[in-house]
Amino acid sequence: MQDSEMMQVCAEVEDYFEQKLLKNDPLPQKVLDYCATQPIPKIQITPTQGKFLQLLVRLSGAKRILEIGTLGGYSAVWLATGLPETGQVISLDFDPKCVSIAQYSIQLCQLEHKISIRQGKAAELMQAMIEAGEAPFDIVFIDADKENNPLYLKLALELTRSGSLIIADNVVRKGKIIQAQNKGNNIRGLRQFFDDIEQSDRLDGTALQTMVPRGWDGIGFFLVK
Ligand code: SAH
Ligand code: DHB
Ligand code: MG
Repeated sequence: MQDSEMMQVCAEVEDYFEQKLLKNDPLPQKVLDYCATQPIPKIQITPTQGKFLQLLVRLSGAKRILEIGTLGGYSAVWLATGLPETGQVISLDFDPKCVSIAQYSIQLCQLEHKISIRQGKAAELMQAMIEAGEAPFDIVFIDADKENNPLYLKLALELTRSGSLIIADNVVRKGKIIQAQNKGNNIRGLRQFFDDIEQSDRLDGTALQTMVPRGWDGIGFFLVK
């Protein structure tokens, strides 16, 4: 099978699963439709990945979630749909345009009580949370500038507890993750992130490769010991 044909079939399989499995989740779809009308890149997680995050939230009984990288609020809405009514997603983004688009997404879904967006550089906002003694998060979803993943991991470890889950999107990047000589900051950051996980005695997890209509990538899942 040619690559282009494989991508086409992959997209059709995604559509098939969306139709078979995601009909009872109308809110994220509303957000996706709205985001498509806005001047932001289409780099959200996929619907089936969103559902998987929602399942993890429900399975873990998480109540407090930190997201690094909001974009239009799509993944934040998926995470929030898995939370109890009293649960909270705090999502961080430095782009004021994304923050205002995401605010509107949250209003569309009437999820204002569950999601708050904070505007600023993620590392600075996280540092401020540590200094403020913010209660630990049950899940941290890292999905912003990949070059800063090592820093986000270090800060996430200060904002979590034993039993928390750290999730990282885009850890494969069409296989570039194995390129030790890659000069791009994103791949260097991702490789340092995995070196840090390897060296850490507080993390235990895995990474899954994913085939999505946009291409080949992966997501990492790490339990804080
Ligand atoms: N999680 C979203 C996608 C996030 S895309 C979803 O799946 O729906 C990555 C986002 O990270 C972008 O909106 C970008 O503005 C933000 N970002 C990049 N670097 C950042 C930084 N240093 N601090 C905060 N946000 C950042
Ligand atoms: C891309 C995808 C993402 O999920 C992301 O967080 C950043 C970039 C991309 O496909 O370029
Ligand atoms: Mg991503």
